[in-house]
Amino acid sequence: MFHAATFAQKIPAMISPELFNELARNRRSVFPDQFDPGKRVDDEIIREIMINATWAPDHGRSEPWHFSVFTGEGLKSLASFQSELYKQEAGENFKEATYYKLQHQPLKASHIISIGMKRTTTKNIPETEDISAVACAVQNIYLSVTAYGLGGYWTTGGITYNANAKPFFGLDEKDKLLGFFYIGKVAIPSVGATRSPIEEKVRWIEN
Ligand SMILES: Cc1cc2nc3c(=O)[nH]c(=O)nc-3n(C[C@H](O)[C@H](O)[C@H](O)COP(=O)(O)O)c2cc1C
Repeated sequence: MFHAATFAQKIPAMISPELFNELARNRRSVFPDQFDPGKRVDDEIIREIMINATWAPDHGRSEPWHFSVFTGEGLKSLASFQSELYKQEAGENFKEATYYKLQHQPLKASHIISIGMKRTTTKNIPETEDISAVACAVQNIYLSVTAYGLGGYWTTGGITYNANAKPFFGLDEKDKLLGFFYIGKVAIPSVGATRSPIEEKVRWIEN
């Protein structure tokens, strides 16, 4: 009986494994100072990237990711929110340089995605697994950004671990803000990445 091949079965013929190896190994973090300032990525591309994010694996069909996309004037709202929250709470530890960075760093990006984990409450899924699923979604973002010839990186700096920041990103107390993914057009590519030999990280047990 004839069975039509699933799309997944056709993928090796369309994207060779060797090509995917190159994509995975040449994906690099590209930081805001390497972006082409003021160049905006087409929103439609970002939409495609976010669809890829939501196709990450998850345990128990929990889909625990929760993203907000900031662009245009939205970048200014994010910059203003994070810098003012810092100012309100820093007290005697206030540093002008940190305040300045929180105000200006987002404006270097074309789009910034806040990376949220919405805690699964309907099933018995450990928190680590909700976080892991969101990290898989972020890797889909990383690879998609690379495939589109764009630059980006995941940052956990600034207000990431401030519990008072959560509502701004649509997160409740039990949820987690896991950071931000900055995206921009690349002016200065990243070079010089290294990894340890896999023998140091991968053990084979064959008998
Ligand atoms: C969970 C996570 C958090 C990260 N947070 C930061 C960060 O706060 N600041 C930063 O410069 N890079 C951050 N990065 C990006 C790393 O610097 C980058 O992945 C690492 O240097 C390896 O480079 P590569 O991504 O080009 O392989 C983070 C990456 C991950 C996975």
